[in-house]
Order: sequence, then C-alpha cells, then structure tokens
Amino acid sequence: MKILLTGGAGYIGSHTAVELAAAGYEVVIADNFSNSSPKVLERLEMITGKRFGLYEIDVADKTALKKVFEENKIDAVIHFAGYKSVPESVKVPLSYYRNNIDTTLSLLEVMGEYGCNNIVFSSSATVYGTKAPYPYKEDMETGNCSNPYGWTKLFIERIITDYAAAKEGFSAVLLRYFNPVGAHESGLIGEDPRDIPNNLMPYISRVAVGKLPYLNVYGNDYPTKDGTGVRDYIHVTDLAKGHAAALDFAEKHSGVEIFNLGAGKGISVLEMVNAYSKACGHDIPYKIAPRRDGDLAEFYADASKANVILGWKAEHSVDDMCRDSWNWQSKNPKGYNE
Ligand code: NAD
Ligand code: UD1
Repeated sequence: MKILLTGGAGYIGSHTAVELAAAGYEVVIADNFSNSSPKVLERLEMITGKRFGLYEIDVADKTALKKVFEENKIDAVIHFAGYKSVPESVKVPLSYYRNNIDTTLSLLEVMGEYGCNNIVFSSSATVYGTKAPYPYKEDMETGNCSNPYGWTKLFIERIITDYAAAKEGFSAVLLRYFNPVGAHESGLIGEDPRDIPNNLMPYISRVAVGKLPYLNVYGNDYPTKDGTGVRDYIHVTDLAKGHAAALDFAEKHSGVEIFNLGAGKGISVLEMVNAYSKACGHDIPYKIAPRRDGDLAEFYADASKANVILGWKAEHSVDDMCRDSWNWQSKNPKGYNE
C-alpha cells in the first residue's frame, strides 16, 4: 500500500516514515521544506535501506498535488503539513490560517478527485483549550483555544468531519498529540528547530549541548507536584507507531474517529530537567522565571481509547526520551546543518 505523507520531512513525519517502511508500506513524501531539511531523506534511507518518493511542493498548490496522485496510486494520506509554532501564530495569524487550512482544503479536494478515501490528520491536545478538566478524553468539549495555531487545528478537525459526513466511504482519523519529544534511537533523525526553541525538550537539549546558557523554568508556583508545569510527554517513536495503527484502522472503517496519543502520565519541568541531566551526564543549568502567558498548570491524556480500539500504547519512559534526544543532539549539535 502506498501512503502519502504531507510534511513527511518534518520531525514527526520523518519518524512516521521509518515506522511505516518497517511495517511494509510504500511511502511518498510531499514537503516544501519550509520547516525541514532535504537531508532528512538521506537519513531515512540510511535507517531503512529504502528510497522514499519525494515531491518538493507546496501542498496547497493543487496542480502540483495532482501530479503526485497522477504518478502514484495513493491509498491513504497522513496530513502533517502545516505551521506549528504557537507564539509565531499569535504574531502572524493569517499566515497560519492560510497555510494550515489551504493545505487541508487542497488535499481533500485532490483526494476526492482521485478517489482516495483515507486520511489521518495531525491534530493536537491544544484543541481542548483552556477550560477542559484533565485528563483529557476525546469526547470532552473543545474550543477556547489560547492561540491561532490551536484554532487552525480545531477548524481543520471540523472541515474533515463535515467532508466525511458528506462523502460516502470516507474514513478520517484525527490524532490529538500531546507533547512529542525524543528522537529515533539511531540518532540520525530528530527535532531540529530553526530558531531558539519554544518548547521544553529542544530547549533543554540546546542547553545540554552548550548552545544556550541555561533554561528558563516558567513558573514554580503552580499547584502541581513540585510547582512547575506538568505535561504528557510522548516519545516520537511511540507517536509514529500510533500512526501505523491509525492507518490500519482508517482502512477498515468509514466516518471519523478521534484518538488522543499521549503517554497518559504527567511529568513536571523539573522532573524532565533531572532526567535529562542523567542522560547527558552533567547538570542542566536553569533559572526560575515568571509564568509564560497562556500556559496551563497541568494536563495529560486519557489515552485508553487508543489502547482499546487501536491496540496502541506508549512504551517509552521519560529516561528513554531523554537518552534518545541527547543521542540525536550530541551527534548533530547543529541539527541537519552539519
Ligand atoms: P514540522 O514543522 O517538523 O513538520 C511539518 C512539515 O510540514 C515540515 O517539514 C514543513 O516543511 C512542512 N510544510 C509546512 N507547510 C507546508 C506546505 N504548505 N506544503 C508542504 N509542506 C509544508 O512539525 P512536526 O512537529 O513534525 O508536526 C507535524 C504536524 O503535527 C503539524 O501539523 C503539527 O501542527 C502537528 N503537531 C505537532 C506537535 C509537536 O509538538 N511537534 C504537537 C501537536 C501537533
Ligand atoms: C506547547 C503549545 C501546544 C503545542 C505543544 C507542542 C503553548 C501554550 N502550547 O505546549 O499548543 O501543541 O507546545 O509540543 O505554547 N517550559 C519551560 N521553559 C521553556 C519551555 C517550556 O519551563 O523554555 C515549560 C512550560 O511552561 C510548560 C512545559 O515546559 O510547563 C512544556 O512546555 P512546551 O514544551 O512549550 O509545551 P506546551 O506548553 O505543553
């Protein structure tokens, strides 16, 4: 079976490409490298021993996208392509709405033209907004997103749901990721943010490798186990395996199904700092800073639906996440720009 990964050169897409290749799928990647490097393709080949079809295109460009479907019989699509920075989305909201929504509309229209009826979409726990009680369950109310990025995810969930209702035999799986971290165990692929990272794990990695002087811990006065923010970190390889399970499900069903992909466990900032120190063998310098605007004290997934229906659960520990993140960062201190 041939699977198209839009945004497949990115952090989660590249790890998913490895897992799909291992599961026997043929993978085609469509990416414009707006937030990734073409070098990922060489690395994927080194890990899997396989060549991946590559189209360097803007997924919103229907003419270019049609060529992909013309030249390949695509059985299903995993739609990763989109912009993902929360603070950037606040600064340039239209660019986020334009890119994230246009790519989805073009993709659905072209899939329709070529009779492709299976999609898996990269959504986010951010759709639960700022009011839902945790642990988050799939049937909880969504909305109250704190930023435009979050709204794009919720609007796209809506668009796909409406399309699935109108199109007989269409199957969509919406995956709400929690906090993906870590890297492939080979250390050949990993997260490579272009600028100073916003997210915790890539920031700690840059401090660990000496590229940044210290970590700002945003708040130590939350009502949590040690006062710092608590999140549900999930190893990117576990997340990638969740996509293989979701594809299998999508092929056998029709309609829309939503799954949380998280480990179901809350880890604090300081717990993560300590685990990372152990992995890299030295202390991670940090300073306590004020709370970051828009942050919640704590949230994590109820991931039982994915376990029961997809037969999937996260297997890796926080120590594994830190070990693999450090392995990637220390072998590639400049990311893909060696
Ligand atoms: P990423 O930025 O590493 O990957 C996204 C890929 O899409 C990049 O390779 C980028 O070049 C490509 N892309 C963007 N716009 C495109 C366009 N118009 N045409 C073609 N390619 C385009 O991000 P990621 O962390 O791998 O995330 C993948 C998906 O998962 C995104 O949709 C993101 O919003 C979602 N998600 C990510 C996280 C996370 O923490 N990483 C959490 C929840 C959801
Ligand atoms: C953020 C996004 C979310 C997105 C997710 C991707 C916001 C409000 N939410 O979630 O939409 O899906 O990233 O993984 O931005 N922290 C520090 N110092 C740092 C960075 C982070 O202390 O330099 C703390 C944060 O306060 C938080 C925790 O670490 O408690 C995790 O932060 P982060 O990795 O940015 O993820 P989220 O805020 O959960």
